[in-house]
Amino acid sequence: MPEIPYWRTEYSGAKTWLVFGALSMAVGTLAGLGSAIHLVAPDFFANISWLEFGRIRAVHVDTVLFGFVTATLIGALLYIIPKVLDTELFSEPIANLAALLYAAGVIIGDIALLAGYTQAREYAEYIYPSDVLIEAALILLSYVAVMTILRRREPLLYVSSWYFLGGVMWGAMVYFAGNAMWHPWIGAEDGLKDAILLWFYGHNIFGLVVTPLATGIIYYMMPRIAGAPLYSQLLGIIGFWTLLSFYAHIGSHHLLQAPIPTWLKAVGIADSFVMVLPVATVLVNFWYTSRGRFSKFLLTPSAKLVLFGTIWYAITCIQGPLQSLAWVQRVTHFNNWVIGHSHIAVLGFTGFVALAGLWYVFPEVTGRRIYSLKMVNAQFWLVLLGLSGFFLFLTIAGLIQGHVWLMGGTVYRSVPMLKPWMTLRLLSGLLIISGAFVGLYNMIMTLKYGEVIEK
Ligand code: HEM
Ligand code: HEM
Repeated sequence: MPEIPYWRTEYSGAKTWLVFGALSMAVGTLAGLGSAIHLVAPDFFANISWLEFGRIRAVHVDTVLFGFVTATLIGALLYIIPKVLDTELFSEPIANLAALLYAAGVIIGDIALLAGYTQAREYAEYIYPSDVLIEAALILLSYVAVMTILRRREPLLYVSSWYFLGGVMWGAMVYFAGNAMWHPWIGAEDGLKDAILLWFYGHNIFGLVVTPLATGIIYYMMPRIAGAPLYSQLLGIIGFWTLLSFYAHIGSHHLLQAPIPTWLKAVGIADSFVMVLPVATVLVNFWYTSRGRFSKFLLTPSAKLVLFGTIWYAITCIQGPLQSLAWVQRVTHFNNWVIGHSHIAVLGFTGFVALAGLWYVFPEVTGRRIYSLKMVNAQFWLVLLGLSGFFLFLTIAGLIQGHVWLMGGTVYRSVPMLKPWMTLRLLSGLLIISGAFVGLYNMIMTLKYGEVIEK
């Protein structure tokens, strides 16, 4: 019998996305290290233009966000969704093609950033050709998602499928709008209008893309690990619609210090608090589904990862509404406090869930047992310790900056005070990077030497 080409084999789409995700975690965190070194020793990379802070920071942020987190979440869901729908993925070749376009978008975007080509808007730095590739990939994925749902044999549309479909379709819309793709040369609108558009995009890339994708994985893993049915599918659906209704326009809470209309700021702040609703639906479901079975979440590394992902989600979403108040932002805005929030949100919540999904589905996707569960456990501890350090040190650094500024001190005066905290952050970062490389090594070894699972 002729051999089936790779891109047609079962779960190959999921595998390609997952491998790209793990590679991106390694590359993206290294770029984070480069950025962190700048903040401890600004002259370290003197005269190496492609390692300038402005370039390497953008490479870090975009590679971990689009490469690691988003790609890994998508990879895990490409396995999960057909399972819960009791069908096959509509098209493995299209899922592979989407992965290829997406990876090309990220890689070209990163190389261009290092060479100094940027559209210079946060989370939208990639140049236009990259935008086109990433947009095409998201549209193809939306098509695969819709067609897979249409071909399902299971009549109940389990809540994970809602979140997956939402995540990829909103992803395609938000990416197009946020990158102002109708203006290829600048990728922006003008003036204040652009600030509003950018922060609509900035928060929706988190709220309407990675958050629903991660939530879809939590809903898949939670009942399976607990060994109990989901407490409430209805609550999950309510969470989905409230996420869409209230998250979509809270971006203005990033602009409380900017001259945008006051009513827009009020909407942003009010909806930041209403976000308690969708967040609570996940937490309540988690709590009641795992009641009396909680210890099961401490037994395997992927169970621990999903548990801690949910805990970081809770912490992020308690901190989030508070820091959307103008009087809190007087201390926390424009400083390291926000960087602490970013890391517990993007790595703590969505990154932990992405890693949980990766290790949970990888044996099924590859047909091989994980090469070393001890290494997955080591990755969990390295990333957890590193991230806890990040949260603590960056929050302290932010409070120092905020108070110096509030008392009339200049930025210049506050910078030397940050040195110890930036050094501790750098050291914590080394733990996270080690976690990324341990994970990548474990993945390569699983693909090469993992014990084949008999069907
Ligand atoms: C209840 C939910 C949340 C609320 C109300 C919230 C609120 C906020 C606010 C007010 C800021 C801006 C702070 C400032 O600039 O002074 C912020 C920044 C940020 N948030 Fe959240 N957040 C929430 C959840 C999340 C989640 C789930 C994620 C990621 C998955 C996330 C990722 C980020 C990031 C990356 C930033 C930094 C943006 C930047 O300045 O570059 N947040 N958040
Ligand atoms: C996969 C893990 C990681 C994720 C998901 C992540 C995510 C992010 C995000 C979203 C931002 C933008 C923050 C903002 O503008 O508010 C950021 C900035 C940054 N990250 Fe990471 N990060 C990760 C790992 C690391 C590591 C390991 C290091 C250091 C060794 C690091 C160092 C930095 C630095 C220095 C910045 C810029 C901070 C600034 O401008 O003051 N990150 N990261």
